[in-house]
Amino acid sequence: MYYCLYDLLNEKRTEKGETSQEMYRFFQGKKIKKADIVQLKDTCSIGSVKKFLPAIEEYTGMTELEVYLSLGIIPEEYKKSFFDNITSISQMLVPESKERVTGLSPIFSTQFGTLYNADCLDVLSMLPDESVNVVFADPPFNLSKEYDTGIKDDLGMSEYISWSYKWLGECVRILKPGGSMFIYNLPKWGTYYADFLNKYLTFRSWIGVNMKASLPIAGRLYPAHYALLYYVKGGQAYTFNNQRIPAETCRHCGGELHDYGGYKNKMNPSGVNVSDIWSDIYPVRHKKDKNRPFNELSVKMLDRIISMSSNPGDTVFDPFGGSGTTYVVSELLGRNWIGSELGNCKIITDRFANIQRDRDTLSQVQQREKNILFSEPVRILRKKNGFWLPEDFKK
Ligand SMILES: C[S@@+](CC[C@H](N)C(=O)[O-])C[C@H]1O[C@@H](n2cnc3c(N)ncnc32)[C@H](O)[C@@H]1O
Repeated sequence: MYYCLYDLLNEKRTEKGETSQEMYRFFQGKKIKKADIVQLKDTCSIGSVKKFLPAIEEYTGMTELEVYLSLGIIPEEYKKSFFDNITSISQMLVPESKERVTGLSPIFSTQFGTLYNADCLDVLSMLPDESVNVVFADPPFNLSKEYDTGIKDDLGMSEYISWSYKWLGECVRILKPGGSMFIYNLPKWGTYYADFLNKYLTFRSWIGVNMKASLPIAGRLYPAHYALLYYVKGGQAYTFNNQRIPAETCRHCGGELHDYGGYKNKMNPSGVNVSDIWSDIYPVRHKKDKNRPFNELSVKMLDRIISMSSNPGDTVFDPFGGSGTTYVVSELLGRNWIGSELGNCKIITDRFANIQRDRDTLSQVQQREKNILFSEPVRILRKKNGFWLPEDFKK
C-alpha cells in the first residue's frame, strides 16, 4: 500500500532493476521533467499529475484504476460499483498477521509508572484493549534528525505514514471509551493523522502550538505553529478539566493585550479559558534547562494536557519517551504512566533521579502561569502603571 505516488514509482523501478536516472530518463522521453517527478516525493496528491498518467501507466504496467487503488483512492465513478461488490471484495481480503510480543521487561519503574526500552509497537502489542485514559504522542517528525539511536528519521512518505497509522491504530485500540488522545507533529503530518483518526475517534480540537521554530520559507506562509491534535474515543464521556491561564499582557507596562471592553469586571480572577491557540508554550532551548541535545517538550505543555484530560489515578501512555517529559509530569501529578523509548533511556532515569528539578519547574508553572488572571510580578507592574486589577471591581 502506498500513499505517495513517488514511492509507487520507486517500487516499480526497483522491480525493473533500474537506477533513478534511468527512471527519470524514461519520463524525460515523455516530455516530463525530472523536477516534476522529484517533487512527487513530498506529496500524496495525485491531482497535479493527472496529465502524466498515461506515462505512469506505461512505466508501472498498471491501469489508471490500479494506480489509484494502490494509493488507497477509490475514484468517485467507481464507488457505487465498489459498494455493490463489497461482499465479494471483502472475501478476497486477508488481514496482515499481528505478532503479540510477550515477556518484555521494563527497564525502569516508579511508584506510578513503567518504562520499556523498546519499540513502541512491541510495547503497544502487550497492552490490553481499552486500558489507558490518555495517549500523548510526540513522534519523530521525519525531518532527518540525528537521534543517538540511529533511528531512521528520513523515511519515504508512504513508509512514514503507514508506520504512523500502525502505532496510531494501536493507540486507538488501547484507549478507554471516553479517553483522550493528543498527537503532536508538524501540520503537514497532522493532516494525514487527522484523516486516519477521524475514522476511529471523535475530533475535539486542532490546537495550534505557537512555535516559530524555523526560518521563513520563500513562497510560503511563515510556519509558526505545531499541530496538537485532540481526539476523544466515543461521544460525550470524557474527562475535561477546564484549564485557566493568565490574560496576555505587555511585558513592559503590564497592560492587557486584548480589549476586554465592558467585560473586565466579569473576568474570572482564576484566569481566562485556554483556547485552541497556545501561544504561551515556549520551546526548551537553553542548555541548562534541557535534559538531552534533542527536542524536548516543556513541563508546562504536558501539565496542561494531562491536567485537562485526566484525574489522579488515571493512566497516561506515551509511545515516544524522548527525555521523559510526559512520564515525569504524570508522576508529579499522581497519574499512572506507561512509556516506551527505543533510544537511550538513561536520560529519563537520570531525570527521575533528579525529579526535584522538574517538581520546582511544575510548581512555578502552577503558581505563576495557571489558574490566575495576573501573576504577582504582572500585578505589581499593573498597579504601578494604573491598570485595573480584579479586586477593583469588588463592591
Ligand atoms: C520527538 S522525540 C520525543 C520527545 C519527548 N516528547 C520529550 O519531551 O522529551 C521522539 C522520540 O521517539 C523515539 N522513538 C523513535 N522511534 C521510536 C519507536 N519506534 N519506539 C519508541 N521510541 C521511538 C526517539 O528515540 C525520540 O527520543
